[in-house]
Amino acid sequence: MKYNLSEITEVIRERRSVYPESYSSRKVHSEIIEDVLNNAIWAPTHGMVQPWRFKVYTGEAVKRAGAELEKVYKSSVPEAEWSERKLVKLRERTSSVSVLIFICMRPEENSTIPEIENVAAVACAVQNMYLTCTAYGLGSYWSSPKYVYSEEMKTFLNIGEKDKCLGMFFMGYPEGEWPKSHRKPLEYVTEWFDQ
Ligand SMILES: Cc1cc2nc3c(=O)[nH]c(=O)nc-3n(C[C@H](O)[C@H](O)[C@H](O)COP(=O)(O)O)c2cc1C
Repeated sequence: MKYNLSEITEVIRERRSVYPESYSSRKVHSEIIEDVLNNAIWAPTHGMVQPWRFKVYTGEAVKRAGAELEKVYKSSVPEAEWSERKLVKLRERTSSVSVLIFICMRPEENSTIPEIENVAAVACAVQNMYLTCTAYGLGSYWSSPKYVYSEEMKTFLNIGEKDKCLGMFFMGYPEGEWPKSHRKPLEYVTEWFDQ
């Protein structure tokens, strides 16, 4: 065995989506954010497109992003469907977390790589972010409310027409218990063939 598989397995299985409501006020330092992103960019990528793009908001900028997100929500969701609960949650989250990363995807000009593969590459990058956070004892969470896919979101993030925002990544030190989860057993999701 070249690496310590039991430790790797533990990090993979202990990785959880930890929601901002359970983060303490302890700030996440920029060196740690950089480590998280430096691991993100080592994800697999078909054709070496490296389609991941990150917009990192920290400190006061998170609150500014929160105000912009509220505008994005209100302009992309019909007024009759506005949810005060969702708006309150958004305000609370963006006024308390110390880091918020917008996960974006940029295809290569004139590339033949299908979009789904660039999305898959970005998802692999996000898994690297999740795992690095877990190793640091940091909670993290990929959030994808519908409005992240809106044109208004693209305008706010100033990303290209063919780019996509795939969600928001929250990070913070958890207060209280690390969450537990479960998965369907392997037999349920696997078919084996040997002839
Ligand atoms: C692409 C993607 C988008 C997600 N978006 C949301 C979301 O908008 N809201 C949410 O509560 N969880 C979201 N999650 C987190 C899942 O709810 C979470 O991964 C799932 O419940 C399993 O829990 P675990 O991550 O702790 O294992 C998202 C996960 C992925 C992979």
